[in-house]
Amino acid sequence: MVDVILGLQWGDEGKGKIVDYFAPSYDVVARFQGGPNAGHTLYVNGQKVVLHQIPSGIFHPGKINLIGNGVVLDAVTLKRECEKVAAMGVDYKKNLYISERTHLILPTHRALDRASEIAKGNDKIGSTLKGIGPAYMDKTGRNGLRVGDLLDKSFTSQYIKLRLKHQRLLDNYNFQEDISNWEDEFFEAIEELRGFNIVNGEYFINDKIQQGKKILAEGAQGSMLDVDFGTFPFVTSSNTISAGVCTGLGIAPQKIKEVLGVSKAYCTRVGSGPFPTELNDEMGEQLRTTGSEFGATTGRPRRCGWIDLVALKMACMVNGVTQIIMTKTDILDAIAQLNVCGAYKINGKEVTEVPFQMNRMQIEPVYKSFAGWQTDISLLKDYDGLPAKMKEYINYINSYLNVPVKYISNGPGRDQIITA
Ligand code: GDP
Ligand code: IMO
Ligand code: MG
Repeated sequence: MVDVILGLQWGDEGKGKIVDYFAPSYDVVARFQGGPNAGHTLYVNGQKVVLHQIPSGIFHPGKINLIGNGVVLDAVTLKRECEKVAAMGVDYKKNLYISERTHLILPTHRALDRASEIAKGNDKIGSTLKGIGPAYMDKTGRNGLRVGDLLDKSFTSQYIKLRLKHQRLLDNYNFQEDISNWEDEFFEAIEELRGFNIVNGEYFINDKIQQGKKILAEGAQGSMLDVDFGTFPFVTSSNTISAGVCTGLGIAPQKIKEVLGVSKAYCTRVGSGPFPTELNDEMGEQLRTTGSEFGATTGRPRRCGWIDLVALKMACMVNGVTQIIMTKTDILDAIAQLNVCGAYKINGKEVTEVPFQMNRMQIEPVYKSFAGWQTDISLLKDYDGLPAKMKEYINYINSYLNVPVKYISNGPGRDQIITA
C-alpha cells in the first residue's frame, strides 16, 4: 500500500515537516522526482535541518528511505547531507537506498543550467541552478548516466564522452566557467556513492509492497511547478504530481491509496512566472516576514500572496487528492482581513479554470473576504479549540475544493499539527 504526500502550490508548502510527522506510521519513505532543487525543512529535537536529496523519513530509526529512479541525484549534495545527518546520529548507510536507475547530475549539468538561464535573459525561469533541467534533458534525450553505471568499469570513459558533448553545448552558449573544482568534488563523491545501498528500486519497492509494508511517497516542488500541468515554461523539469509516483518508483497506479496534498493557508512562489494572487504591497511583506518566507535552497525571498483556490482545485483534480493538509495557518494569526481567490477575471470574464499560458494574459483575482481570527493558535492542540473564524475560513476552502482539510499545521515543530 502506498500513500503520497505532495505539494499543491508552487513548492515549499511544508512537505518536509509533514513527511517527518507521518513517517512513524510507514515502513518506507521514498522520493520519486526532483533533486537538490528541493529544500525540505524539518525540526529534529528542536534543531533545524534542511534536506535536499535525502527523503524526510531519515530521522526515524528503522525506517527505510529510498531515492527513486525518478529523482536526479547530485552526489556532492548527497555526500554533504549524509555528513550532516551522521553528525546528528543517523546511521544513513543502514537506512538509505538508491535506485540504480536514478540519473546523475554532472558538474556540466550545473554549468549548462547557468548558461541556459543567462541566455534566456528577461525570460529566465529563476532556476535553483542545481542542474535539474539539463540532467532531465539528458534522461529524455537518452544520454544521461545513472547510479548503476558507477559500478561499471566504463563509467569514466562514458563520463568523458558526455562531458565533451556538454562542452560543445557550453561553447555554443559562449559560456565559460572553470568547473575543475566541481569535478574534483564530483569524483570524490562518486567514489563514496559506490559504497551506498544501490538497489534495483522497482523490485525493492514492489517486494516491500508484497510483504504488506507501508510506503510513503514524498513529493518535491509543487503541482504548479509540474512540467505538464504547471505554469509552463516557469516550472521544474519533472512530473511533480501523483502520476510521477508510478514512473518515479516503478509502482502500479492501483497501489496508491491516499494522496495527501499539502497547501499553505496562503501562497508563495520562488523564481519567475505567473502568480495571480501575488501581493506586491505591505501585506505581502508581512506574510514574508512573519512566515520567514526565504528559499530553503537558495535563500531567495519568496513571493507571497493570498490562497488561490482556482489553482488548488486544479491541483486536487490532477493529483486525485483525498485529504488536504493546511500548513502555516499560524502565520495568518494577526491579520484582520483574509482574502481567498475563487475565480480569475480575464478580459472582463470570470473563469474558474487555470488557463493555458497564464503568463501571456492579464489575470485579476476575484476574492471573497473573511474576518481574521486574530488569536495566537500556535499552542493549540485540538480542532474544537480553534477560533470560530478560522473554522469558517477552512470550511469555505473545504467546500470549494470538495476535498476535506484533514490536518492543520500551526507551527514548524513536529508536534504542531491538529487533526480536523
Ligand atoms: P517544503 O519544501 O515543502 O518541505 O517546505 P520548506 O521547508 O521549503 O518551507 C516550509 C517552511 O515553513 C519551513 O521553514 C518549515 O519549517 C516551516 N513550516 C512548516 N509548517 C509550518 C507551520 O505550520 N507553521 C509555521 N510557522 N512554519 C511552518
Ligand atoms: P521544494 O521541494 C520552490 C522552482 C525554482 C524555479 C523553478 C525551476 O522545496 O518545494 P529548477 O531548479 O527546478 O530548474 O527551478 O522551480 N523550484 C522550487 N520552488 N520549492 C522547490 O522545491 C523548488 N524546486 C524548484 O525556483 O522557479
Ligand atoms: Mg522547500
